[in-house]
Amino acid sequence: MVTRLIFIIFLVSRLCSAQGSVDESSNILIVYLSRTNNTKVVAEMIHEKVGGDLVALELKNPYPENYKSIVAQVDMVKYDTVFVGFPTWGMQLPPPIKSFLTQYDFKNKTIIPFNTNAGYGIGSSFQKVKYLCDNCNILEGFSVTGGKERDGIYLAIKGNRKVEVKELLMEWLENLKPLTLKN
Ligand SMILES: Cc1cc2nc3c(=O)[nH]c(=O)nc-3n(C[C@H](O)[C@H](O)[C@H](O)COP(=O)(O)O)c2cc1C
Repeated sequence: MVTRLIFIIFLVSRLCSAQGSVDESSNILIVYLSRTNNTKVVAEMIHEKVGGDLVALELKNPYPENYKSIVAQVDMVKYDTVFVGFPTWGMQLPPPIKSFLTQYDFKNKTIIPFNTNAGYGIGSSFQKVKYLCDNCNILEGFSVTGGKERDGIYLAIKGNRKVEVKELLMEWLENLKPLTLKN
């Protein structure tokens, strides 16, 4: 049974371009959920490569009992392409991401999922993204092993592992057509 998680979440944060400010001209949004920063590291690598705006979905209460709401401050109209990053939770799409995807109208937008997990894979998460955005153009997603919290490994995508992940990520990005890369 899946525990209902209560998160009061709000979309904070750091709408920033590679230069550290909002990139007014960009039509790319990279939004991610990350508790122990593995997905965040991947999101930042994507941002470095494709530019656009980077937004963290922040959990107000990381261990809640019920999932409650999300307060978003993003003008989604501006974006054609939305990278959506999340960890696998209980072999599923985390509830805050489900909420994010149902909260906005992504019709005709390009959605690109990316994921980190403890080695058990994406579970049903990518399928759920597809289900929730059935009128979107969904590109092939990216997934890598990140933290293993149960074994006391929190941020795993660092050092040599970060270099490895970056290589895999760049290969994936290069093959993501029709996305135009910055560099
Ligand atoms: C509540 C919870 C449930 C998780 N469930 C799974 C799972 O079903 N399969 C898996 O491979 N990893 C699972 N993980 C591990 C995370 O997916 C993994 O550590 C991921 O890299 C964390 O990303 P983050 O550092 O961006 O938060 C779970 C972690 C948490 C906190």
